[in-house]
Amino acid sequence: MNVGIDIVEIERIKNLYEKFGERFLKRVFTDNEINYCFSRKNVFHSLAGRFAIKEAVLKALGIGMTSGFSFKDIEVINVNKGKPVVILNGKLKELLNNREIEISISHSEHYAVGICIIWYNLNNKK
Ligand SMILES: CC(C)(COP(=O)(O)OP(=O)(O)OC[C@H]1O[C@@H](n2cnc3c(N)ncnc32)[C@H](O)[C@@H]1OP(=O)(O)O)[C@@H](O)C(=O)NCCC(=O)NCCS
Repeated sequence: MNVGIDIVEIERIKNLYEKFGERFLKRVFTDNEINYCFSRKNVFHSLAGRFAIKEAVLKALGIGMTSGFSFKDIEVINVNKGKPVVILNGKLKELLNNREIEISISHSEHYAVGICIIWYNLNNKK
């Protein structure tokens, strides 16, 4: 398996939004992600959690943003009872190559963390 983790200062995401507004949001987050986060009481906690996941997924895949991918190719959606799952699009989907990917998010007052695990051998999860 491969793992990636990232921690994000919530204030940093808030500052980027205050400085660049919609332009920042639309560049980093999908419409679904924006709608979900703005429906939450702590909008920037949820945005920061998604930002952390996007970085964590790139780490788990062993690539960086220099590789020419868009943050929007990594989308977090919340399913049963709020559980977050990640959907990869475009070239990242090809890189994942049908392997199983799992994520988890947590936030405290000032920080959000995201972790991503990619399973390489589904019959023998190691
Ligand atoms: C899951 C839960 C315990 C987390 O609460 P918390 O400790 O106050 O909050 P944290 O900051 O650590 O985590 C929040 C994140 O947990 C994730 N989460 C929410 N519900 C989840 C669930 N059922 N399973 C896994 N993750 C969940 C979300 O990603 C959420 O962030 P987001 O809304 O920005 O996407 C709480 O949301 C809850 O009780 N949910 C519903 C009941 C439930 O299904 N509980 C069992 C899950 S193990």
